[in-house]
Amino acid sequence: MVSTDDADPREELAALVGSLRRTVAWHARAGAYGARAAVEVEVEAPRAPSEAPPAPGGRLSLAQIREELGDCQRCKLASTRNKIVFGNGSETAPLMFVGEAPGADEDRIGDPFVGRAGELLDKMIEAMGWTRQTVYVANTLKCRPPGNRNPEADETAACQPFLFRQIETIAPRVIVTLGRPAANLLLGNNAPISALRGQFHQFRGIRLMPTFHPAYLLRDPSKKREAWSDLKLVIAELERLGVQPPNPPRG
Ligand code: URA
Repeated sequence: MVSTDDADPREELAALVGSLRRTVAWHARAGAYGARAAVEVEVEAPRAPSEAPPAPGGRLSLAQIREELGDCQRCKLASTRNKIVFGNGSETAPLMFVGEAPGADEDRIGDPFVGRAGELLDKMIEAMGWTRQTVYVANTLKCRPPGNRNPEADETAACQPFLFRQIETIAPRVIVTLGRPAANLLLGNNAPISALRGQFHQFRGIRLMPTFHPAYLLRDPSKKREAWSDLKLVIAELERLGVQPPNPPRG
């Protein structure tokens, strides 16, 4: 936190306590030894007027997670990015997509999948009967790697807790990962996408379908057939779970 002479010390203290409380609660939920006791004896801190309200049910709201991310300097991508790309869509989306990392367009605008790959992703989402407003879209990284190089291990490690918190808050019924890095991160493996796609996996009890990244589909359109068969499995799974898309696909 940046401290300035004219900052209200009560607001600063409340923000610090709030941030500490959320961090301890996160570790407690993740099973960290001793963290639960710290949460139990914790004194309710006053919420500063500028602090984001919590989500119902005791989970962090997306606004709180964004607030905690702040002007992130946790990895070297902070020095080359223009905008943090947090993610967007519905906080209660039953369907969530996780891509790799922002590209040049996303870095300029601050939203995920707004370039050519984003146009294809929009078509995929619409073909499934959903819209960008009713799903949630995020990436494994919130900042653009220079020249769109692959994410590095330290960058993924620094960003991962924020993506996992977003998933915990949104609690989607199905996650679709786009490309290998997102699938590997959420599944904790190093398998190629060809070995993962086409079948459901689990992320913390949530059904997860890995499929090809839209940028790869733009480079090799012959893979679109397999991607669509993955998405059809997702449509059927959501239906089985009793989740209706806003514009059900025909046939
Ligand atoms: N590719 C991604 O993986 N994510 C984006 O947001 C844009 C392109």
